[in-house]
Amino acid sequence: MKIGVLNGGGDCAGLNAVIAAVVKSGSRDGHEFVGIIKGLEGLLGDHANTMPLDLNTVDGITPQGGTILYTTNKGRFSSKVGAGGVSKIPDEIIAESKKNIQKLGLDCLIVIGGDGTLSSALQLHEAGVNIVGVPKTIDNDLKSTDKTFGFSSAVDFVADAVDRIDTTAESHNRVIFIETMGRHAGWIALYGGVAGAANMILLPEIPYNYEKVINHLRQRQQMGKNSSIVVVAEGAKAEGEDQAVKKAEKNKENQIGGITHRIMEEISARTGDEFEMRNVVLGHLQRGGSPNAEDRVLSLRYGVGAINLVNNRDWGKMVSLKNGQISSVKIADAVKDLNLITEDDPMLQTARDLGVYLGV
Ligand code: F6P
Repeated sequence: MKIGVLNGGGDCAGLNAVIAAVVKSGSRDGHEFVGIIKGLEGLLGDHANTMPLDLNTVDGITPQGGTILYTTNKGRFSSKVGAGGVSKIPDEIIAESKKNIQKLGLDCLIVIGGDGTLSSALQLHEAGVNIVGVPKTIDNDLKSTDKTFGFSSAVDFVADAVDRIDTTAESHNRVIFIETMGRHAGWIALYGGVAGAANMILLPEIPYNYEKVINHLRQRQQMGKNSSIVVVAEGAKAEGEDQAVKKAEKNKENQIGGITHRIMEEISARTGDEFEMRNVVLGHLQRGGSPNAEDRVLSLRYGVGAINLVNNRDWGKMVSLKNGQISSVKIADAVKDLNLITEDDPMLQTARDLGVYLGV
């Protein structure tokens, strides 16, 4: 078959490893590949925006961060608005991309993406395009798969950042707030914070209370702990507050950010100079760089799994990891809900048992 390969949404450590695995494994089965540049957007225009994709192109890319196919998280295919909202992609956009898929002579598309890209790909599938999905996001917020690649590398980075911040916070007797990515999900903050032995972790799923946060910092001081590290997921919010939005976007996801700044201002307003505070926003450092070994292995397994779905003509499915095995789910089911932290999550309990304060 002639297979188009594309990735959409934010880049993520492990994307190149998936692409390499798809091409290496698919070439053994006699398939040919076309790289679609900049996600589904690359299917639009007079001609699709493509690049050659063969064993030479993917040689040596497995350990590389970013994506050789380039990517975008905006454009005319945007179909996700906020947590869970889906908007319909205009008919003319679907028709234009179908025309280009036909011109390229593609039998199917392998789409590597998160909730947003896979929701858009689903609409293309429902319009008659053969699609196989691969889950991708550092946020680990996709249901129907135990883990997404890129998450583990992001957690490694956060844990390392907490270690580094800890020594300077202690030297200066400061409270330092570390802001992590994750959008509406707190997985990166929870795992990175626990791994780095943060004192407090604030998550989108558990609204915090300012007075209780302040009391906890005071209690630490009474115990002789004059520095504290607070890991804050970018989507965290206090009881009754909205998420901190850096830039509101029309018909697509808002840019979330600024929560650690807001928290410092609020604590200052309530306590004056009692605490010396600083904040660090880890931002895109969490997405860049090489995938760690765990993410490489997961990405390679997903890539091989995607080719198995193609060989079985199992269209409209996404590869997934279930109890350590690569299996598959309908894309329609995978994008129904976000994978958010729930009260019964074992890692949440572990954090509590370790004495990590969660803000309530
Ligand atoms: O979904 C991945 C992610 O990195 C989120 O954690 C974050 O909120 C967002 O993308 C940032 O997007 P951008 O690259 O557009 O700033």
